[in-house]
Amino acid sequence: MLIDSHAHYDDKQFDIDRDMVMKKIESQGVAAVVNPSENLASMRKVLEMSEAYGFLYAALGFHPHNAAEFSIEFLDTIREMSKSGKVVAIGEVGLDYYYDFSPREAQKKCFAAHISVAKELKLPLIIHDRDAHKDVIDIIKAENAGSAGGVFHCFPGSVEMAREVLDAGFYIALGGAVTFKNAKRPVEVAKYVPIDRLLVETDSPYMAPVPYRGKRNDSGYLPVIIEKIAEIRDMEYEQVARATAENACRLFNLRLSCQEG
Ligand code: NI
Repeated sequence: MLIDSHAHYDDKQFDIDRDMVMKKIESQGVAAVVNPSENLASMRKVLEMSEAYGFLYAALGFHPHNAAEFSIEFLDTIREMSKSGKVVAIGEVGLDYYYDFSPREAQKKCFAAHISVAKELKLPLIIHDRDAHKDVIDIIKAENAGSAGGVFHCFPGSVEMAREVLDAGFYIALGGAVTFKNAKRPVEVAKYVPIDRLLVETDSPYMAPVPYRGKRNDSGYLPVIIEKIAEIRDMEYEQVARATAENACRLFNLRLSCQEG
């Protein structure tokens, strides 16, 4: 069983052939995809898609890039939308100091507000942490985000940072970056994270794994990522596929027969 813990099928890159892609990945054995949102329009679209495709699950929230658009009233929208049985997480939320598309103070407020609603709704968080690790960890501790739990997606950090994330009670998700020729930290992290705390993701349409790097990514490439992680950890492909799927089922409370492999 394959579960893609992070993909953006609401992205405009799929406007021309979305339905075909969804049918293709389902036929490739992808049993579940968690699709995070980025702002209000994205939340609406992702929720609608999750109702149209059985294997697609929604996460609700404002990406740090869009934190300047966020205001506290949107938490009511999230509360209302979360009544759908297809909403399994709050995300993607966090801090991005690499692009700094929204002012840092706005990013911090937006992130803290989403943590509070995640705790209230008892939903895990999907966290985006780019060049902002210290502040992300400080906010997680200050807001007691560990009680909601969640995952650091597409984890770009070092083993030392991974340890802090695990200690805070979060899972770590790895994607196409483990296959890149210059990958050093993702490879070390892939080796380090206990197998029961590891998720896999594509981050489609971005981050396609080697040898597809630079192309539009989709969940059909998940086996390439799992294969690479299995090689790094000296494990069987099936063991990694099964464990990461079980972890995703546990974290997102997916009602799939995850124990059947
Ligand atoms: Ni993403």
